[in-house]
Amino acid sequence: MRIGVLISGRGSNLQALIEAAAKPDYPAEIALVIANQPEAAGLQRAEAIGIPTQVIDHRLFPSRVGFEAAVTDALCTAGCELVCLAGFMRVLTGDFVARWTDRLINIHPSLLPAFPGLHTHAEALATGVRITGATVHFVREQVDQGPIIGQAAVPVHDDDTADTLAARVLEAEHALYPHCVRLVADGRATVSGHRVRIAEADT
Ligand code: GRF
Repeated sequence: MRIGVLISGRGSNLQALIEAAAKPDYPAEIALVIANQPEAAGLQRAEAIGIPTQVIDHRLFPSRVGFEAAVTDALCTAGCELVCLAGFMRVLTGDFVARWTDRLINIHPSLLPAFPGLHTHAEALATGVRITGATVHFVREQVDQGPIIGQAAVPVHDDDTADTLAARVLEAEHALYPHCVRLVADGRATVSGHRVRIAEADT
C-alpha cells in the first residue's frame, strides 16, 4: 500500500516509518512526504533515502480549503491510499477528513481520550497519572478523536519532567506507529462504528 506522510517538524515518527518500510515484508511504502513548513527537519530524512517530498506551505494559501486541495492533489498524484499524520500541526477541515475517511490516521502522545490537544505531558504530570502512552487512531473531525487502532502504555516516573516523559513516550511511538500502519495496510484493522476491529494475523 502506498502511503503519504504529513509532517510539520522533526519527523522522528516519519523516520520510524521509513525504517519499517525498508524491511522487505512491510506492507506499506512511503510514496510521498508532505510538509506544511519549508524548514521541517523531517524533509531531509526522506530526501536522504530518495523518498519524494513536497512542501505545501499553508501560509501561501488564502484559505484552508485551498491548502487542503493542494495536499489532496499531491497525495492522489502520488497514488497514496493511506495518509499518516506524523507531527502535522495543522487542524484539518471536516471536508478533508471526509475525503479521506478511514484512510487518514494520526499519532498522539497520550492514552486517548486522556489529554488530547497540546501540552499532553505537562497535563499528565499535573494530573498525577502513573501511566501514560501513545495512541494511533483514525482521524475524525474533532481533534484527537476517532477509532483507536493501537495504544502503547508508558510508566510515569516520580522525577519526570515533561521533557523526560515526552522522550519515553516518543520511544514507544516509534514502535507503535509502524505496527499500526502495518495493521491498516494489511487490511487487518477495520473501522466498525466507533471502534476498530483487529483481525487475527494469517498463520
Ligand atoms: C509526536 O510526539 C507525535 O505524537 C505528535 O507530535 C510529535 C511529532 O514528533 N503528534 P516527530 O516530528 O515525529 O518527531
